[in-house]
Amino acid sequence: MPGKTTDYHIDDIGYWSEMKLEIIRKYATAYSAILTNQRGLRHIYIDGFCGSGVHRSRTSGDLVPGSPVVALGVDPPFTEYHFIDLDRGKTETLREIVRTSTPESYDEDSVFIYEADCNEVLLQDVLPRARYGDYRRALCLLDPYGLHLSWDVIATAGAMKSVEIFLNFPIGDMNRNILWRDPTKTSPKQAARLTCYWGDESWKDAAYTTDLNLFGYEEKNTNEAVVKAFRKRLKDVAGFSYVPEPIPMRTRKGAIIYYLFFASPNNTGAKIVSEIFAKYSDRRS
Ligand SMILES: C[S@@+](CC[C@H](N)C(=O)[O-])C[C@H]1O[C@@H](n2cnc3c(N)ncnc32)[C@H](O)[C@@H]1O
Repeated sequence: MPGKTTDYHIDDIGYWSEMKLEIIRKYATAYSAILTNQRGLRHIYIDGFCGSGVHRSRTSGDLVPGSPVVALGVDPPFTEYHFIDLDRGKTETLREIVRTSTPESYDEDSVFIYEADCNEVLLQDVLPRARYGDYRRALCLLDPYGLHLSWDVIATAGAMKSVEIFLNFPIGDMNRNILWRDPTKTSPKQAARLTCYWGDESWKDAAYTTDLNLFGYEEKNTNEAVVKAFRKRLKDVAGFSYVPEPIPMRTRKGAIIYYLFFASPNNTGAKIVSEIFAKYSDRRS
């Protein structure tokens, strides 16, 4: 990473984000090694909500490579990288990092950076470069801060059978803004954000039940029930054959900020990720 950071767009991150980055680095390294050995296949790294490529650790104060820089450092390298972020400051910082710190292991022409809404660019430009029939495979990180992802992206990736995803399931945003104890108080605008992420309104059935009381009013289900229903949806509706138990990302006090899902058309990836998740599942520092 270059020394001059004054103009850089740097977010402070909690240690759970550092844990996520370690998980991504471990799996991306295994994935790239396996795919490199399969002759005739090109494998692509896609980062839908990529950020600037550099963060500051709240724990140590040190600069920490963001997910695009983690992916660029994977050896053996991917054949292509696609990085998307809506924020101009972040894409400019990332361009500068890529320009000034080109490791010998990757070719600068293989790196594509988009200042755009990934919900559009992924469907129009990027996922079509990862078609199964074109001997392409992709690992795609979908890591929004909140409910900024559209189900169409998830469903398209699932239908392609060539794409594996890591997915941030933002239960914190859901609980803060939508999944209130009294569902009649949630604003329709907020509810629409969850419907967009979930793909339809069946989140209401997952999140609320009338079974638990005699009076027929709706009571809120647990986070685990919501997560279980979404996991089933990734399999049954999006069509990912393998979706291991997601890993909860917690604050030091134990509050869950989001769940990190992995969904894949192949069993090998799911097994490797389950082993990685198991190593990190109780980590709080
Ligand atoms: C959690 S951060 C990404 C962190 C990054 N994955 C990492 O681990 O280093 C989420 C990013 O998504 C970007 N973003 C928000 N909405 C977006 C959208 N619709 N399309 C693309 N990027 C978006 C934000 O600007 C922010 O940089």
